[in-house]
Amino acid sequence: MKYLITYLSFILIAGLIAAGCSEIKKDLPVQPSSSSVVHGPGFAQFGHPNFHGNYLKKNNWDIKQCQGCHTNYNAGGTGTSCRSCHTQQAGPEACNTCHGDFSNPNYIAPPEDTNDSTRTALRGVGAHSSHLYTNQIGKAVVCSECHTVPTSVFQPGHIDGRPAEVNFGTFTVSKSISAPVYNPSENPTCANVYCHGNFAFSRDSAAAQNRYIYLENQITGNITNTPTWTELIVSRATSQVLKCGTCHDMPPKGHVGHGTFTISSCAGCHIGIVDEQGNILDKERHINGAANVRGQ
Ligand code: HEC
Ligand code: HEC
Ligand code: HEC
Ligand code: HEC
Ligand code: HEC
Ligand code: HEC
Repeated sequence: MKYLITYLSFILIAGLIAAGCSEIKKDLPVQPSSSSVVHGPGFAQFGHPNFHGNYLKKNNWDIKQCQGCHTNYNAGGTGTSCRSCHTQQAGPEACNTCHGDFSNPNYIAPPEDTNDSTRTALRGVGAHSSHLYTNQIGKAVVCSECHTVPTSVFQPGHIDGRPAEVNFGTFTVSKSISAPVYNPSENPTCANVYCHGNFAFSRDSAAAQNRYIYLENQITGNITNTPTWTELIVSRATSQVLKCGTCHDMPPKGHVGHGTFTISSCAGCHIGIVDEQGNILDKERHINGAANVRGQ
C-alpha cells in the first residue's frame, strides 16, 4: 500500500513538473524521445526541463528515493537501470556525477559546479582549475587542503544545503604563521594562507646561521595578501615580476639583497626550482614549505 501511494504521488509530481515547463526545449539529448509513464516526458533527456538531474537538484540530490524502484541503481522491476548511463562502479553515487566532469572520473572538482556552470566568476567554480588541474607554479592542491572530503555521498556534512564549506587542511594550517581564513562574502577571499604568503623564515635559527650566505633579516612573504577566489592572479598580472610578486616580493622581504636582486638571480641559489627567466622548473618543490637552496 505504502509502495502504491509513493508510486502514485510520483506520477502526480512528475506530471505537474512536466505540465509547468513543457514548452521549454533544449536539444542536448541523451535519449531524444524519452518519455516515461512514471516520470513523464524528458526524464532521461539531458537539457529537458523535466530531466532527472533538474528534479534531483530541486530535491536536495536525494538519490535514495530512486532506489525504492531502481533497486541498487539496477533496473529492479522498472526495466531501466541507472547504470546504463552512470557506468562507473558507484553508479550515480560516483564523485563526478553532480560536480566536476561527468565524462571524466578524474575531474571531480568544479568546473562544472553543482549548477553545471563553468564560469570562474561564480564561487562554485572560482579558482578550482588553477589549483587542481592547470597549476603552473606548484603541485596540484588536494581537495583536503580546502574541504573536509566525504568518503561517500551520504556522509553527514556533505550535502547539507549550500554553500560548500571550506575547512583548511594540514599543510596550510601547520605552515601558516596564523590560522588561514576563508571569507565567503560577495567577492570571496582567503587570508593568512601559507601558499599565498603567510610565511616567515627566521635567519636567527641555528640552521640558517650555518648556511653559506648571511641573511639580512627574517624572510617573509606578503603576509597581508588576500587573494580573491573568483579572480585569477595570473590573468591580473601584467609582467612576470608582478605575477611572481603577489605571494612574496621578488626577492621576498628580508631576503639578502632585498630590493637589489632581479628575477634572474634566484636561479643561482634556488637551483632547479626556477630558471633565469623566472619560470618555475620544479612544481613539486616550489611552495612545499622547505628552503630548497643549493644542495639542501
Ligand atoms: C515509484 C517507482 C519509481 C521511482 C521511485 C523512481 N522510478 Fe524511475 N522509473 C520507474 C519505472 C517503472 C520506469 C520505467 C517505465 C517508464 O519509463 O515509465 C522508470 C524509468 C526511469 C528512467 C528512464 C525514463 C525514460 O524516459 O526512458 C529514468 C532516467 C529514471 N527512471 C530515473 C529515476 C530517478 C533519477 C529516480 C529518483 C529521483 C527514479 N527514477 C525513481 C519507476 C520509478
Ligand atoms: C539515459 C541515461 C541516464 C539514465 C538512465 C540515468 N541517468 Fe542520471 N544523468 C544522466 C546524465 C547525462 C546526467 C547529466 C550529467 C551532467 O549534468 O553533465 C545525469 C545526472 C544525474 C545526477 C546529477 C544531477 C545534477 O546535475 O546534479 C544524478 C544524481 C543522477 N543522474 C542520478 C540518476 C539515477 C539515480 C538514475 C537511475 C534511477 C539515473 N540517474 C539514470 C544520464 C542518465
Ligand atoms: C584551494 C582551495 C580549494 C581546493 C583545493 C578545492 N576546493 Fe572546492 N571550493 C573551494 C572554495 C573556496 C569553494 C566555494 C565555497 C563557497 O561557495 O563560498 C569551493 C566549492 C566547492 C564545491 C561547491 C560547488 C557549488 O556548486 O557550489 C564543490 C562541489 C567542491 N568545491 C568540490 C571540490 C573537490 C571535489 C575538490 C578536490 C578534487 C576541491 N573542491 C578542491 C576551494 C577549494
Ligand atoms: C548526488 C550528488 C553528489 C554526489 C554523487 C557527490 N557530491 Fe559532493 N557535493 C554535492 C553538492 C550538492 C555539494 C554542495 C554542498 C552542499 O550542498 O552542501 C557537494 C560538495 C562537495 C564538496 C565540498 C565540501 C562540502 O562538503 O560542501 C566536496 C569536497 C565533495 N562534494 C566531494 C565529493 C566526493 C569525494 C564525492 C564522492 C564520494 C561526492 N562529492 C559525490 C553533490 C554530490
Ligand atoms: C601562489 C603564491 C606564489 C606565487 C604566485 C609565487 N610564489 Fe614563489 N614561493 C611561494 C611560497 C609560499 C614560497 C615559500 C617556500 C616554499 O614553500 O617552498 C615560495 C618560494 C619561492 C622561492 C624560493 C625557493 C623555494 O622553493 O622555496 C623562489 C625562488 C620563488 N618562490 C620564485 C617564484 C617565482 C619565479 C614566481 C613566479 C613564476 C613565484 N615564486 C610565484 C609562493 C608563491
Ligand atoms: C645568493 C643566494 C640566493 C639568491 C640569489 C636568492 N636566494 Fe632565496 N634564499 C637563499 C637562502 C640561503 C635562503 C635561506 C633558507 C633558510 O634560512 O631556511 C633563502 C630563502 C628564500 C625564501 C624563504 C623560503 C624558503 O624556501 O626557505 C624565499 C621565499 C626565497 N629565498 C626566494 C628567493 C627569490 C624569489 C629569489 C630571487 C629574487 C631568491 N630567493 C634569490 C639564497 C638565495
